[in-house]
Formats: sequence, C-alpha cells, structure tokens
Amino acid sequence: MEALKMIQSRKAIREFSGQISDEQLQTILKAGNAGAVGMSQFENYRIIAVQKPAIISQLNGLHGAPTAIIVAASAASTMEAVSAGVIVHNMELAAEDLGLGANYNMASLGSIPADILPAGFKPLIVLTLGQTTETFTPRDLPDDRIQKEIIK
Ligand SMILES: Cc1cc2nc3c(=O)[nH]c(=O)nc-3n(C[C@H](O)[C@H](O)[C@H](O)COP(=O)(O)O)c2cc1C
Repeated sequence: MEALKMIQSRKAIREFSGQISDEQLQTILKAGNAGAVGMSQFENYRIIAVQKPAIISQLNGLHGAPTAIIVAASAASTMEAVSAGVIVHNMELAAEDLGLGANYNMASLGSIPADILPAGFKPLIVLTLGQTTETFTPRDLPDDRIQKEIIK
C-alpha cells in the first residue's frame, strides 16, 4: 500500500483470527530491523518474537494475540523509549500492509518472564499480532485528534 494511505488506514486491532505465517513474521522483523535508533547504537536494542503458547499465555493484556514481538533495550531513557517506538511502528505498519492485525502494547511489559530477555535488557514496548478479518482503508479521523501548532 502507498505509504500515506497506509498511515491513514492503520488502526489498533484487538481481535485475532489466527497465527501469522513464518514468512509474514520475517517480513515484519525486517521492517523492525530498518528502524532508526538514536546515535545509531543498534547494539543496544533487541527484537524478541514470541509465539510459544506457554509464554504467550503468561503475558497480560494481549487480547488473544498469538504473536508478541518485544522491543527491548539496554537502558530505558527517553532515547531508548523513542527508538523502541520507531522500531515498533515500522513493524506495525508492515504488519498492516500484509493485512494482519497489530497493536502496540505496554500492558504486557510487567508480565514478560525475565528469562526470555537477554541479560541486561529491559522490555520497552510490545507489538501484538495475528490474522484479522478487519480491512484497512483510510480513516476519517477528526483533524484535532492531536492538537497542533505551527509557529512561523
Ligand atoms: C506506547 C503505546 C502503548 C500502547 N499500549 C497499549 C496496550 O497496552 N493495550 C492496548 O490495547 N492498546 C495499547 N496501545 C494502543 C492505543 O490504545 C491505540 O493506538 C489508541 O487507542 C489509538 O487507536 P488507533 O491506534 O486505532 O489509532 C498503545 C499505543 C501506544 C502508542
């Protein structure tokens, strides 16, 4: 989908109708890999895709998503949080371009088992993913959904 149309069509999906394919997962991870991070310190970030039912069932607030992709960083300052947001947003748009349901998720952060994270890394944001019956067309959002100012 053309990028601007995609941006207007994206939306949080919280109902899922099945697991994503391995090929779809790889495409989404590749989009995360293309994300920008502050000071190009890519080594400070990890992307951990979880599909194991025994772990998924331990995570809070996934709304039944069969896949959770954790973006973790070696610190949790503003730079890491913003960079994790950039990474997760790339993956969210890629998922929706594939017709998948996706959503950002912080509700699960406190329930992520420490032993699935690399030592010294903190989870900052999760992407929930699955097949969806929803379709993606440009939304008619109120212009003032986020208030804006232009200073000239
Ligand atoms: C940083 C961040 C954290 C979020 N955490 C959650 C969450 O834990 N659970 C959830 O259902 N939605 C979560 N969302 C999704 C927002 O609720 C959703 O994007 C917002 O309601 C706007 O809807 P839209 O994405 O359809 O435009 C999160 C979004 C962001 C950006």
